[in-house]
Amino acid sequence: MSLTSKNLSVIILAAGNGTRMQSSIPKVLHRLAGKTLLNHVLTSIEGVRAEEVILVLQKEHQEQIESTLSQDCLIAIQKNQKGTGDAVRSGLEVANQANDILVLCGDMPLLSASTLLKFLGLVSKDASAVLTAVFNDPKGYGRILRDKNNAIHKIVEESDATPKEKHIQEVNSGVMLLRSAFVRKAINEITPENNQGEIYLTDLVEIAILQKHQFDAINCASEDEILGINNKRHLSVAEAYMRKDKTNALLEKGATIIDPTRVDVRGDVSVGRDVEIDVDVIFEGKVSIGNNVKIGPFCILKNVSIADGSIIESHSSIDSAEIGSNCTIGPYARIRPGAKLEEGSKIGNFVEIKNSSIGNGSKVNHLSYVGDAEVRSGVNIGAGTVTCNYDGANKHKTIIEDNVFVGSGSMLVAPVTLKKGSTIGAGSTITKDAPSDSLTLERAKQVTVDSWSRPTKEKK
Ligand code: UD1
Ligand code: CA
Repeated sequence: MSLTSKNLSVIILAAGNGTRMQSSIPKVLHRLAGKTLLNHVLTSIEGVRAEEVILVLQKEHQEQIESTLSQDCLIAIQKNQKGTGDAVRSGLEVANQANDILVLCGDMPLLSASTLLKFLGLVSKDASAVLTAVFNDPKGYGRILRDKNNAIHKIVEESDATPKEKHIQEVNSGVMLLRSAFVRKAINEITPENNQGEIYLTDLVEIAILQKHQFDAINCASEDEILGINNKRHLSVAEAYMRKDKTNALLEKGATIIDPTRVDVRGDVSVGRDVEIDVDVIFEGKVSIGNNVKIGPFCILKNVSIADGSIIESHSSIDSAEIGSNCTIGPYARIRPGAKLEEGSKIGNFVEIKNSSIGNGSKVNHLSYVGDAEVRSGVNIGAGTVTCNYDGANKHKTIIEDNVFVGSGSMLVAPVTLKKGSTIGAGSTITKDAPSDSLTLERAKQVTVDSWSRPTKEKK
């Protein structure tokens, strides 16, 4: 088949009520591996050179769905949910009249781009076709009825199928290529004479036969790929499939994953050599990991780059940050957007770093908050130190120059600079710049009350 970008329109059906999801969120906006079902479908058509992509939506969902799309689409509104045939008719009102139509459902996120291209390549010249797959358990899908010459003559929906037909394992994926002249006429000839009282797109097969228009059933998809998400159970099955697919890709790249069923990749992850990933790690967005990086259990890494040799200890959460080489983070560290850790720096337990740079070899080892700060190299920040960056209205900056030592329990009230080599005495509240190479401390005088005894419990 030769389709060029000039004569093909894609219509994606997403106007259904999604009743079986038992949710107030439109079905196609449910997320799979961190991405909406609909955006997965848009990814699967990336290789198809279509002139336009038309989404068929309910008016009530339009605004919500449009704001989440990963690419520009034309919108067609289906007024009443009368079935898949009626939904395609709504799409045709928007589509270029001259174009052939590729129909997909918005609830089939696992279809691969390569299977779709293979299908399009196998459609005979001037014929229409449906993509099929053989299912182990075909329950719920439209069954493909073939005659003794193996040609398709009908698609029967589950609710209209006879017990014998229900044994047929070949099913309708919901993907069809429909020739322009045929579909524009035939779509108006479908009647809702079936158990659901709906206008079934699948009735086009019988109409094609009556009109002597060639309609093929092409079985070139795997069962997994054409899973249609109708309920939350299907969604969890698809999630498991994606998890396996994505962790397999990492294993193939040489990563060691202790238990691939307990690592979630909700985005794109790249790994260098000898990367180790422990259990219950979640990756989101774009994550790039260098060589010899170890990620401990129960970590969440979102939009992060981690350079060679760094170790992320358990229960750490890192979001939108850049981690240099040979850093150690955690356990229980929270690294927030805008954090940049340079080579060999160490962030310990219960430390939060936000919008700050931590220089070479610097350490923030325990229970501290570092926000809007520039921490240069060789700095040691003691336990319980806080950069007081927010005055209730504005954020201010803390600059900690090379080789500064901050004693435990210090409050650094920004804007403030601790000059090179300065030492801050433990428990200080620093409101003015600390001069270099000297000790600065702020402390109330210590008193001792000699003749004092501890309170005792009152008798009842
Ligand atoms: C449909 C097919 C079935 C196929 C299965 C594959 C029909 C009649 N049935 O069944 O043969 O095996 O998909 O997953 O075509 N939609 C609208 N407007 C409507 C109704 C549905 O836009 O009025 C959209 C839905 O949002 C959905 C798609 O069409 O994305 C399919 O509808 P759904 O109700 O899920 O059909 P199935 O029962 O799964
Ligand atoms: Ca479906």
